[in-house]
Amino acid sequence: VADALSGHLCRCGAYEGIFAAVAAACAGEFDAEPDRDPPRVDALDKVTGRARFSADLVPEGGWEGVIVRSAHAHARVRAVHPGGARSAATPLPAPGGPVDGQPVFTDLLGEERLVRYAGQPIAAVAAPTAALARAAAEAVRVDYDPLPAVLDTDEARAEGAPQVYTTRAQRRAAPSYGEAPTPPSPWRGNTRGPSTASWRGATAVRRLRGAAERGDPRLVAQEYSTAVQLHSPLEPHVCVASWERDGTLTLRVSTQTVVKTAQKAAERWELPPEKVHVVSEYVGGGFGAKGGLSTDMVAAAELSRLSHTPVRVSFDRAEELTDAGHRPGTRTRVALLADADGDLAAMTVDSEGDGGISVGSTTATLGLLGYGRSPRRVRDFDVVTHRPPGKPMRAPGGAPLAWALEQAVDTMAERLGEDPLSLRRRWDGNPKRQALYERVAALDLWRDRPRGPRTGRFRRGVGLASSNWLYLMGPKARVELSVRDGRVLVRSATQDIGTGIRTVLGGVVADRLGMPASDLRVEIGDSGSVHGTGSFGSRTTTSMGPAAADAADRLRDALREHEPRVPESGPVPEHTLKDALTAAEGVRVVGKRGRDRWGALSPDMDDVAVGRGLSGAVHVMEVEVDTLLGRVRPTRCWAGMAVGRVYAERLARNQVEGAVVQGVGYALFEERRHDPGTGVVLTDNLEDYRIPGMGDVPETEVYFHQEGFEHAVGAGVGLGEVSVVGVAASVANAVHDATGWRPRDLPVRPDRLL
Ligand code: MOS
Repeated sequence: VADALSGHLCRCGAYEGIFAAVAAACAGEFDAEPDRDPPRVDALDKVTGRARFSADLVPEGGWEGVIVRSAHAHARVRAVHPGGARSAATPLPAPGGPVDGQPVFTDLLGEERLVRYAGQPIAAVAAPTAALARAAAEAVRVDYDPLPAVLDTDEARAEGAPQVYTTRAQRRAAPSYGEAPTPPSPWRGNTRGPSTASWRGATAVRRLRGAAERGDPRLVAQEYSTAVQLHSPLEPHVCVASWERDGTLTLRVSTQTVVKTAQKAAERWELPPEKVHVVSEYVGGGFGAKGGLSTDMVAAAELSRLSHTPVRVSFDRAEELTDAGHRPGTRTRVALLADADGDLAAMTVDSEGDGGISVGSTTATLGLLGYGRSPRRVRDFDVVTHRPPGKPMRAPGGAPLAWALEQAVDTMAERLGEDPLSLRRRWDGNPKRQALYERVAALDLWRDRPRGPRTGRFRRGVGLASSNWLYLMGPKARVELSVRDGRVLVRSATQDIGTGIRTVLGGVVADRLGMPASDLRVEIGDSGSVHGTGSFGSRTTTSMGPAAADAADRLRDALREHEPRVPESGPVPEHTLKDALTAAEGVRVVGKRGRDRWGALSPDMDDVAVGRGLSGAVHVMEVEVDTLLGRVRPTRCWAGMAVGRVYAERLARNQVEGAVVQGVGYALFEERRHDPGTGVVLTDNLEDYRIPGMGDVPETEVYFHQEGFEHAVGAGVGLGEVSVVGVAASVANAVHDATGWRPRDLPVRPDRLL
């Protein structure tokens, strides 16, 4: 039971912690080799419920807020009637507390008075209890002038289709889900693009045209699609806002960045930075959906200001699955050409992102990075529709691209009469992935895979997929160490979205000083601390780990000044440390890690040719296909990660296992659906929007290739995203191996397979 629970039940980093802790507790291994493979420090707190998540932190007398959302996919809003709610702040008759029990109302629509998707926030109300708040929300009346809407990309591209954005200003203001900076691209109707990147792109296109004209068998040209995937963290978006009489604003939230959230809040309400306080002590998963100032925060803060009392706004599951962001659907065309030697001679990728009202697809752009530097041209398009905004999601662009590219590479291997591993070993210039391929060649899972045509109802197949991800992404990380009451306090304004940074920070400092981790206290998740990095772009541990090491070295220097017996390096003997910490009471140091430049997408970067600019992963997946029911069951998975040094293997393993779960969901089940008549999201609950359960998840072995990257960052280069990129493609390649049928569209549903 313990084994099964650990990391396999769910996909949310924080809750993986719970299962890991339950598993560890069951197995009695909490104290086993704490230094080599430290357990999650907050695991027991999470298991026992001592950990208080933001929604738990409503002060006495706090109110509940509810968001009123659009019933139309596209409409002009003529008027919003607050019902019985008060819409302006009233003067306080006496210090403290709300004036009375009358609900308060705030408008969220902004000047434009347009709604562009069903479920868009229009207003919010708050009342002393949740029931009263819901009643107040129902009393709000909205007068709409409905407008024609486009609800899918085919409609959006049609001649004379209603426009999502009509003016240049509107287009410029369109929300963007891209991770990479994209150059401004032209619009034609509801389509933006292409944003093009290429290396000898004209050569690539010429070669591919020629190959098509002469019917070259070494040309593989295929089209793939992916469904909209939802982040679905277990902990929904939530904010408990307290706007104090002295003008201080405290937001208790669930966020991937306390620092940026505080900055955005200060900007929005024109507050001095020191008056804004953002706290996010525990986060139940984010996956890209929890960045910056979200509607829950805006609503809660406004309502708190009006009601003179703390207000909690918590998305319910339906809101979370409708309006918290999503991984855009894509349609991707890949063309690969091999020359007479079987080398890659040309590649083009054209990808169209379906991100609702959002733009900023980077799917194709990432095609620059794989398989050396043969001539290639990659183009991204966005098609906007009247549907909720897409957001970055765990390896934005990477997972959809791999779905197409890694299947095309397998198809090419088949054409060349070569096995998929051998082709990748020839084509792939990344030395770290080469090390992983070597391991794959020796795996029983790969070596003993079935060969030849399979028969019978249940067919087993094994497939693999490669992935890469960028790591040069400008974090700014600081860690403060101070000596308090003879102990070391570790502080930073970063947050633990489940990746285990709380554990890593303490672990690195303790390791570096050779002291027991029990002599440390770690405080994170508070914007008032020194600048910590946001938990995006696989960068938290990569950035914070070196900053913590730097801080530890600075603290050692400071301790040596107070206690000369502290050695220059190596572990500090217990007694010496005790004396030093007593003598150094009140000492404070700050460790840093500088900014990296953004550069991995530049064609001039030689690093890309040898793969130094990229982390790498290889997934090998075994599936069993039930050819009668059309069901695919992933049975075993090997996940090899080349990400440099791993700080805490157990936690890293958790993260990779979680990625396999999420990737299997992407491959087989997850698909946001909407009502084609109204645009209302139908899959707004976790029964209709199916994520993997225990029985859907393969037994997973995680391998870390821990060499390399020292020259670049002095440590690991990030695991969170590269770990998910290739999973769905490996499932597809395994399905093809088992059945001879090539999946094109995600998810691989029974109706498609049969
Ligand atoms: Mo992410 S999609 O960098 O949170």
